[in-house]
Amino acid sequence: MQLIDGKLKKEEIIKEISAEAIEFKNKFGRSPHLAAILVGNDGASETYVAHKVKACEQANFDSTLIRYDENISEEELLNKIKEINNNSNIDGLIVQLPIPKHISEQKVIETIDPKKDVDGFHPTNVGRMLIGLPSYISATPAGIMELFKRYKIETSGKHCVVIGRSNIVGKPMSVLMGQKTYPGDSTVTLCHSRTKDIKSITLQADILIVALGQAEFLTADMVKEGTVVIDVGITRVKSDKTKSGWKLKGDVKFDEVASKCSFITPVPGGVGPMTIVSLLKNTLLAAKKEIYF
Ligand code: GUN
Repeated sequence: MQLIDGKLKKEEIIKEISAEAIEFKNKFGRSPHLAAILVGNDGASETYVAHKVKACEQANFDSTLIRYDENISEEELLNKIKEINNNSNIDGLIVQLPIPKHISEQKVIETIDPKKDVDGFHPTNVGRMLIGLPSYISATPAGIMELFKRYKIETSGKHCVVIGRSNIVGKPMSVLMGQKTYPGDSTVTLCHSRTKDIKSITLQADILIVALGQAEFLTADMVKEGTVVIDVGITRVKSDKTKSGWKLKGDVKFDEVASKCSFITPVPGGVGPMTIVSLLKNTLLAAKKEIYF
């Protein structure tokens, strides 16, 4: 069994991106610039955004964090997005999700200029990805693809089972793994809450990508020997052993599954750190205008 060390790969990639950011600054007189909007004070969102801002510093990017109270109106938020769309000093824009219920998530996503949509959530980017055109690919699937590359994991002709059909992870992941590329060229099965006898399917998987957000869902009896297991779950569960009062659990029962795998990602330290570098990579692509021109 080989552990896929996302934290280590993140450090490696940040160094690479940082060198490119310096080159960009020498050429254009400014650094790649990511803007993040955070609405309200959800604990997990605060942590994610803080990690994104810190990663920008490490990679020699500029970042702007815009915070709003949870009572901000939809109109005010959309106007801010439009203002950033028109600001030529900002290359990428993300609005951290979830946002309060009185604001339409879809309107927010569709108001972001696809050229600055470094989260890859805009239908234009999702559609372009589906037909294999250059696009911003959302951070978690892009991070997983990068791990396959960096660990030289064979994907061609393999049976890849994706569990979870979210717009952010499961759906794009299933498309990317089926594409005629490396990584890709897999035969893909997408499982979800209505899938019958899921174990009979997971037992056929050469690659298992688990993204349903249910702590320790995947147990050893659901995995065949030699499977590559990618755990996307990060659920906060109560713990009296930590100062914060909670700890992070993946969707995979790591202790019993790991010994059966050829490769496995831990939680934390697997997929999570890679999502951050994917966001930076997309921001660099946006700054260099490599996706749209
Ligand atoms: N909330 C959870 N994951 C993400 C993400 O990748 N991007 C944004 N904007 N919000 C999120």
